[in-house]
Amino acid sequence: GKDGYRHYMEKELHEHPLVIGQTLQRMVDPATRKVVLPPLPCDLATIPRGVITACGSAYYAGMIGRYWLEEIARLPIDIDVASELRYRNPPLTPGSLGMLISQSGETADTLAALRALKAIGLPVLSVLNAEHSTMARESDLVLGTVAGPEISVASTKAFTAQLTVLACLTIAMGRARGTLDEAGEDELVTALLDLPGKAAEVFSHQADIRKMAGIVAEARDVLYLGRGSAYPVAMEGALKLKEISYIHAEAYAAGEMKHGPISLIDRTVPIVATIPSGPLFEKTLSNLQEAKARGGRLLAFTDEAGAERLSAIAEHTIALPEVHPFVTPVIQTIGVQILAYETALLKGTDVDQPRNLAKSVTVE
Ligand code: F6R
Repeated sequence: GKDGYRHYMEKELHEHPLVIGQTLQRMVDPATRKVVLPPLPCDLATIPRGVITACGSAYYAGMIGRYWLEEIARLPIDIDVASELRYRNPPLTPGSLGMLISQSGETADTLAALRALKAIGLPVLSVLNAEHSTMARESDLVLGTVAGPEISVASTKAFTAQLTVLACLTIAMGRARGTLDEAGEDELVTALLDLPGKAAEVFSHQADIRKMAGIVAEARDVLYLGRGSAYPVAMEGALKLKEISYIHAEAYAAGEMKHGPISLIDRTVPIVATIPSGPLFEKTLSNLQEAKARGGRLLAFTDEAGAERLSAIAEHTIALPEVHPFVTPVIQTIGVQILAYETALLKGTDVDQPRNLAKSVTVE
């Protein structure tokens, strides 16, 4: 049942801390604090490239995985949505590792992409919530997200569990490839072990996020902006808003705004910014100032360190808990998912069963 929550989506949002913790328990040895992976179908130290594919929210998790794997493990990544990858016939580098991400393990396009990767001889590692699914059977290795059943059509907890697995994979990859030393690994593992507690703290901002939702619910169009690993978070926020509130939303890399979407900006198009403090803060802030100067209404998800600067220009600023920059996308995701939920409540839509959508898309 819903355990007293109004919707499965609300219940599953509140399970973020639990599923992140359970997934970490599966992947991090508590005694040594090292990431431990099952035997792999390839040598992480020598693979030349990785290929990531998935659909929808799982694809956005993959995009965050790309930022991590490239930056921390220096592994070049090709990434595409499964429905494109399977027909694109890309000239993939022999010996690359295929990686796919799926909650259900049954999504038709992702399954077809898995078969296409296997057909050209690549080993496939799958990040799956359904460990007895078709994709699980056909993959060379399954890394399980321990998120439990997800009932709400809109994915929530599966997403942060996917990020948790991808973060652990990045650490193992960095160690194998010599880009991460002992101290570096320990720092990142500490950041991950810190996450369940920090994720729980996000809910202390729910009432403030509801106020933000009051502005979003009045809009016909909403822009989401972010840079770096906060960009896929913006995409996830925009998708979730579209899915359950039926409000049109688009995400842009903040630096792309001036190449077109800036012409949309006026009082009627709120801008949701995912802007954690860290190396990209100043750049993103200056993009937001440009939007503000053109009459845009800013709604910002930042953290305690970024809050003061943002509250000077934004109508609503959410100071999410401070975490290591590595894991900010996990905390930011919970914020934008709550915003979509609160907006859907104001719109009175069928949150758990949005129109035209099915939980598992087994048609192409
Ligand atoms: C978004 C959502 C979808 C799924 C996508 C992939 O909230 O639920 O975008 O993420 O259909 O599904 P799986 O992960 O089952 O392959």
